[in-house]
This record gives sequence, structure tokens and C-alpha cells, in this order.
Amino acid sequence: MRIPLISGNWKMNTTVSEAIDLVNEMRPGLDQIDNVDKVICPPFISLAPIKELIKGSTIKLGAQNLYFEEKGAYTGEISPLMLAELCKFVIVGHSERRHYFNETIEVVDKKVQAALKVGLKPILCIGESLEENEAGKTEEILTRQLSSPSARIYYFSGLILAYEPIWAIGTGRAATGKQANETIGFIRQHIASQYGKGIAQQVRILYGGSVTADNIAEFINQPEIDGALVGGASLKASEFLSIVRQTSEIKGRLSEES
Ligand code: 13P
Repeated sequence: MRIPLISGNWKMNTTVSEAIDLVNEMRPGLDQIDNVDKVICPPFISLAPIKELIKGSTIKLGAQNLYFEEKGAYTGEISPLMLAELCKFVIVGHSERRHYFNETIEVVDKKVQAALKVGLKPILCIGESLEENEAGKTEEILTRQLSSPSARIYYFSGLILAYEPIWAIGTGRAATGKQANETIGFIRQHIASQYGKGIAQQVRILYGGSVTADNIAEFINQPEIDGALVGGASLKASEFLSIVRQTSEIKGRLSEES
């Protein structure tokens, strides 16, 4: 049984004081919800104060990016070692980084390796653009993104995947639960064909793209979908709480039924 996971990707939002206020607002509610891994990924500069703030809480902390070198003359970058002291998770290869910051499959791969090396759990984002989707190339694109140079069994056993179709990110146009379930099913099958059924059944695969409190149930009710990577809706405490609560209830019910 894979433990469901809901992660908030705050992107480039919240000052440090706003981030602290948001955590204070969501913490009491989140701490009452079981059976879901709850991860928040604020901007780098808020990681240290939030780490202190959530001591004793069930909330887990993640970063939104990292550089692949351990240290050195890389002005402005943040290393895996720096993050390992502050958080457990790190988002890698988000489409906004691939697009705005020219991150290639090779760079994303190096970042995954660097994160795994220091014990961070990467949340590796993959997904196709609207043009690729309309041209029927979704499976080809995902296969390419999953075939990074160093992908091996241990690679998939150490990470979490997030399927985020680019056309659904920040657009208010989410995939349907059925669409997302089918594509995530394809991802799991692909991993099974390359690395074996055991690892494919173990890896958690999230859906991301315009997830809200109103549509989370549609995704979480699907057997292949293990949780969500939530952007805009993770910045509202009550909405994020509702997403996590519904996930706990629905997955709890599904596991009792099975
Ligand atoms: P939205 O939920 O705002 O569409 O963002 C999704 C996302 O990119 C999460 O990483």
C-alpha cells in the first residue's frame, strides 16, 4: 500500500513573514489528519524559519529546486548539502524550470542524482505540452523524460514522480481524473517494463495541474494516483487543508474496500 502524499508547491510566492503566517494557519488542521504525507515547499529563504516552526508537527518540508554540485563557486545556487540540513524533499525538473531556465533532461538527471546522494527525496516532475498532447506524443515525451541517463532501479525506489501536464499548470484547466489515471498507469507500466513490477508498484506517482479542493476527489478516487502536487491552491490554508483531508478520507475508504 502506497502512502498518499499531498505536496504544496508555493512557487515564487510568500515573503518570509507571509510564509510563517501561512504555516501557522495550516498547521493545527494538518496535524489532525493521518495517513497522508503532507509536504510544503516554500521558497528557499523560508525553509530555515519554517523548519523551526514545524518542530513536533507532522508537516514535512521540501525545496523547489537545487543545484547538482555540493559546493563551490556557483553564485546564487543552493546545494543538496545545504538543503539536506533543512528538508527531506526537493522538487526537481518542474516544467517551469525546464522552460524558463532551460533545464535539460541531463541537468534534471544530475539534480536527481545529487539529491539522492545526500538522502533527499526528489519529487521528479514530468509532463507534456499542449502541442505534444494534441499531436498524440504524450507517451513518447514521458518515456524520454523517464529515460534519463542514470535511471536505474534504485533511482525509482528513492524518488516520487509527479505527472504534470504543462497545459494544466496554472490554467484552471485540469486533466480529468480518468485522463490522469490512464497516463499515470502508462508511467507505472513503463517503469514495470524497464525495472520490474515490484518497483513500479512501490513508486508514488502524483498528479499536478490546477488541483483544487473542488476537483481533488476526482483524482484521488483513481487507483493509480497517489496524491497531488498543488500550486495555487496550496497558498490558501483552508483549501490546502480540505485537499489533504479529502485525500485521507478517500484513500482510507479505498484501502478498506480492497
Ligand atoms: P497549479 O496547481 O497552480 O496549476 O500548479 C501546479 C504545479 O505546477 C505544481 O507544481
